[in-house]
Amino acid sequence: MLEALAASTIIASKWDGESAFVNPMCGSGTLAIEAALIATNRKPGLLRMNYSFMHFIGYDETVFFQERRLLKDQINKKAAPQIIATDISEEAINVSKMNARTAGVEQLISFEVCDFAETHVPKEGGVILFNPEYGERLGTHTKLEITYKRMGDFMKQECKGYRGYIFTGNPDLAKKIGLRASRRIEFYNGKLDCRLLEYELYEGTREKNKSIV
Ligand SMILES: C[S@@+](CC[C@H](N)C(=O)[O-])C[C@H]1O[C@@H](n2cnc3c(N)ncnc32)[C@H](O)[C@@H]1O
Repeated sequence: MLEALAASTIIASKWDGESAFVNPMCGSGTLAIEAALIATNRKPGLLRMNYSFMHFIGYDETVFFQERRLLKDQINKKAAPQIIATDISEEAINVSKMNARTAGVEQLISFEVCDFAETHVPKEGGVILFNPEYGERLGTHTKLEITYKRMGDFMKQECKGYRGYIFTGNPDLAKKIGLRASRRIEFYNGKLDCRLLEYELYEGTREKNKSIV
C-alpha cells in the first residue's frame, strides 16, 4: 500500500491518535507506520532530503533548513498510543520493523508474527484496520472467502468498543464479512475501485452490529 493511501485511510477512520490502533495483516507495515507518524505529528516530508525545488535557480538552503527545524520542533515526543501490527509472515514483520526504523517510529509499534485472529486487542478500544489480499474480482476465492468471514467473526467477538475498517477492492469478498457496514468510503488504489468499509463494533447488542444473514 502506498504511504499516501495508507495515511488517507487512517484520516478517513477519524482515529484520534491517542486510543489503540490495531493493524492485523500489516504486510510491510505502512498503515502502522503512518499511524505512528500521524500520532506524533511527524510530517512525511521530514524523511525526504531531495526535492525538485532544490534545483531551481535562487533556491535558498537556509530557508529550507529553517522550515525543517520548525516542523521538527512540532513533533510530539510524548505521544504514546498503543499501535499493534501483526502478520502471519515472519518476513513481512522483519520488513515492517526495518521500515519503521527508517521512519524513526520503531519504538512506537508492537510487532508480532501471528494469525490475525491471535492479535492482541487492548480492551480500551480504538481503531482496528485490515488491508487483506483481495485477489482478482472475478472467479471463486474459497480461501479468501473463509478469511473474510473469519475477519468479520474476529471483529464481532474480539473487538467490542472499536471501530473496525476493512480496505478491499473486492465487493464479492466484502459480502463474506457478514457485518453491516456503517460507511463505505470510496478510494482508488491505482485504477482499482476500492472501499474502506467501516463497522461500529458496539459492546453488547445493537441493531447495527447484527450479522447479515
Ligand atoms: C495486502 S497485504 C497487506 C499490505 C499492507 N497494507 C502493506 O502496506 O504492506 C496482506 C497481508 O496479509 C497477510 N496475511 C494473509 N493471511 C493472514 C492471516 N491469516 N493472518 C495474518 N496475516 C495474514 C499476508 O502475509 C500479507 O502480508
